[in-house]
Amino acid sequence: MKLTILGGGGFRVPLVYAALLADHAEDRVTAVTLYDTDTDRLTAVARVLADQAAGVEDAPVVLATTELDEALRGADFIFSAIRVGGLAGRAADERVALDEGVLGQETVGAGGIAYGLRTVPVAVDLARRIARLAPHAWVINFTNPAGLVTEAMSRHLGDRVIGICDSPVGLGRRIARVLGADPERAWIDYAGLNHLGWVRGLYIDGRDELPRLLADPELLGSFEEGKLFGTEWLRSLGAIPNEYLHYYYFNREAVRAYQDAERTRGAFLRDQQEGFYARMKDPAAPAFPTWDRTRAEREATYMSENRDVAGAGERDESDLESGGYEHVALALMRAVARDERTSLILNVRNRTTLTVLDADAVVEVPCLVDANGAHPVTVAPLPYHAVGLVTAVKAVERAVLDAAESGSRSAAVQAFALHPLVDSVSVARRLVDGYTKVHPGLAYLNRP
Ligand code: G6P
Ligand code: MN
Repeated sequence: MKLTILGGGGFRVPLVYAALLADHAEDRVTAVTLYDTDTDRLTAVARVLADQAAGVEDAPVVLATTELDEALRGADFIFSAIRVGGLAGRAADERVALDEGVLGQETVGAGGIAYGLRTVPVAVDLARRIARLAPHAWVINFTNPAGLVTEAMSRHLGDRVIGICDSPVGLGRRIARVLGADPERAWIDYAGLNHLGWVRGLYIDGRDELPRLLADPELLGSFEEGKLFGTEWLRSLGAIPNEYLHYYYFNREAVRAYQDAERTRGAFLRDQQEGFYARMKDPAAPAFPTWDRTRAEREATYMSENRDVAGAGERDESDLESGGYEHVALALMRAVARDERTSLILNVRNRTTLTVLDADAVVEVPCLVDANGAHPVTVAPLPYHAVGLVTAVKAVERAVLDAAESGSRSAAVQAFALHPLVDSVSVARRLVDGYTKVHPGLAYLNRP
């Protein structure tokens, strides 16, 4: 099988390759094509992969290219992991929002909207091109904001595009672990949008074990989400929210912490990765160790401002290994390629799963996966407060898709103004002005 990675010079590509190296089945991926617009980044990442492959007999062959059409043709699977505007763009998304006193984050609030407005037109071009050149390929979207970008692509690729995120799996794994259960055997009742979902139950052999966790303050306070949200709030909710809900439930504190930080997350990663890619230009630099050290530092500092706000301390050892993205992607690819039925929490079109949303809305829910793709499973309805957030944010996403399609500035203003974390239409207008000033990629917003 041939796998193509769009954004193949990206920092997290070695994680994917490590997962592929561990797969020795007959119909595994044997060829990986890395596509990127930047040759230096491609060369750097290819060096890390070569180190990883050393001594592995059946290691997938790696090809790097800046020719998109060549990369797409003949692909069985396409991973889309692009970052429009690079990490400098992410840092600018954060800065403009924080200067207006609202959240600047890659996927949540004003920052996520700006990133979405910049990314959707590019993702749509890719989707169109894939539909033409690789109509039978399965597309796995890693690109953030993952739910919105998957929905944009699904308008051209239908159910052949599936969005992934590791945060629901990570959350399910942590809950299972504190309950002393095997994460592989647990059925996780999780529903919402990407980075906006809740675990409402965790079933082992048909029995919901979540009430046992909610009833035990010590257990509840012993893992990441317990520390982040506080046990009292989790008990009051009766559910365990995705970590990204910290930006909603503790918005003021998170905004202040991000404003006070010496560097925003995007600025930190921008500098960190500039250093990594610069070091990789020296042929004497050891590729894998340099990459791995950088990766470990990135993992250790993930959401550190939020954890500081909550007094949550360091991340748990078991959460530091890696994000787990690559495992979700590989499990999904295997299930589709080999018709090995499995269940995974994925971003797919809603159909009739969440009754408050229309059929084409991309949602993040448990799915059964087989050779025909990912099929969302019926879940219990969301409670009203979750309905409020999910429908409000879906309306924001639709306004982003509108703006991206029409170039309409007022649709862009609407996207910001409708977001629950943007508190005034005037702020929304200034955000559109501010973002269009710093991002050449938003020049298309030139219609009233
Ligand atoms: C989590 C999120 C991803 C995000 C990743 C890295 O895994 O689910 O969407 O890309 O963290 O975050 P970072 O802040 O390190 O870029
Ligand atoms: Mn994610």
